[in-house]
Amino acid sequence: MTERAREEIRRLAGLYEHRQSALLPALFVAQQEAGYLSPEVLESVAETLELPLTEVTSVASFYGLFYLEPVGRHVVHVCTNLSCMLNGCQRVLSRMQEVMGVRPGETTPDGRFSLRTAECLGACEEAPAVLVDEDRWAAVTPEEVEPLLDRYR
Ligand code: FES
Repeated sequence: MTERAREEIRRLAGLYEHRQSALLPALFVAQQEAGYLSPEVLESVAETLELPLTEVTSVASFYGLFYLEPVGRHVVHVCTNLSCMLNGCQRVLSRMQEVMGVRPGETTPDGRFSLRTAECLGACEEAPAVLVDEDRWAAVTPEEVEPLLDRYR
């Protein structure tokens, strides 16, 4: 992790009464810079925030939006929770798998996309929902999958 990221994490820590409160934004800063949270990056976050490594690691591994392994240039999350399930997310997920040629948890051989499932993307009223990097797409149909992915090629 660069000194710049460490400085940003220290700045975030200064915003809160307790250093633990800065942990989620600090992990996002680290992930944004490094691409994923390797053991070395997690150690660096723990050192910078002066928190136990076990605490940092357990928080990072709890949330699906933190990546503990290398991911593709674009990470696609398909929500598979109840509202999305009732509105056809399985067909959207199947089409994603077909177009990308990978299964959830895998990355395309060209490193362009990683496919993941998610528990809820906060768009239940417009299910099924898909998140590509930081863009949330609502009411996605299987027919829309290919043009949607084309936007990220
Ligand atoms: Fe899919 Fe909430 S259940 S967005």
